[in-house]
Amino acid sequence: MHTGMLHTHTLTVVLFLLIYLIKCVLIWISPDTLTKFTAKTHIPEMIISSLFLITGLYLAYNNANIGVGSWFWVKLGAVFLAIPVAVVGYRRNNKFLATLSLFLILYSYGVSKTKSPRMNKRDLSEANFHQALQTNPELAQVVTEPMDTIVKGKNDTIIQVNPKYDLIAHGQSVFLTRCALCHGEDGKMGLSGAKNLNESRLDKNQIMELLMNGKNTMYSFKNILQEQEMLAVVAYVKVQFGPKGH
Ligand code: HEC
Repeated sequence: MHTGMLHTHTLTVVLFLLIYLIKCVLIWISPDTLTKFTAKTHIPEMIISSLFLITGLYLAYNNANIGVGSWFWVKLGAVFLAIPVAVVGYRRNNKFLATLSLFLILYSYGVSKTKSPRMNKRDLSEANFHQALQTNPELAQVVTEPMDTIVKGKNDTIIQVNPKYDLIAHGQSVFLTRCALCHGEDGKMGLSGAKNLNESRLDKNQIMELLMNGKNTMYSFKNILQEQEMLAVVAYVKVQFGPKGH
């Protein structure tokens, strides 16, 4: 259900953008063609914009507690500002308002894609992670740095592993701060269409690939987690949730 909503939303947003791109070009170069275009696309546009709003509201309602940052409200504000600006702009044949509304729609699209009001991708990784560890003294005891000393040989490098390093504990701390918000501490929560991890049949490599690429609402962790954090969380997921009795 959720995945379907997400795909429909993305599709209608793209169609909506396309219609307004064409309309905006036409209002500048050929108002007559715009009148014809508007008449022809009136019904499809109504359907598309209704679907766009309905799916958007559904997603917003169901995602309400997944760390929506300020970007989300900026995006919502831009969309809801774009609508009246577009209505007035096209009704009065005002090119500037029409163009402004297009920019607002494009802007909200950009904000949504980058999850940042300035449309730059931030690296959320370490700051949050260490903050989360600090607020949980038990987890802060976990040694999360596997490399103790690096001894350089002539040709190859030998890496000694810190004997206090605990891969599973490290993985648990990553899981609780990064994954539990959708999957739940027990792996069963299933927020936003998240799969029940207890029923997952993925192997370590497949989970790693999923973390790198993301899938549907589960975003990519490529720029969020360091490699060691990913390895640890995958190990934790396998130990904690893998199919039992195999
Ligand atoms: C924003 C919510 C969200 C977060 C955060 C999240 N996931 Fe997911 N996860 C999902 C969704 C949604 C799916 C289902 C994707 C699909 O197949 O459509 C999923 C699927 C999975 C699966 C595959 C289950 C299967 O068998 O198909 C694994 C494993 C998994 N997540 C692990 C993790 C780990 C580990 C983390 C933390 C690093 C994490 N997830 C963080 C939403 C999330």
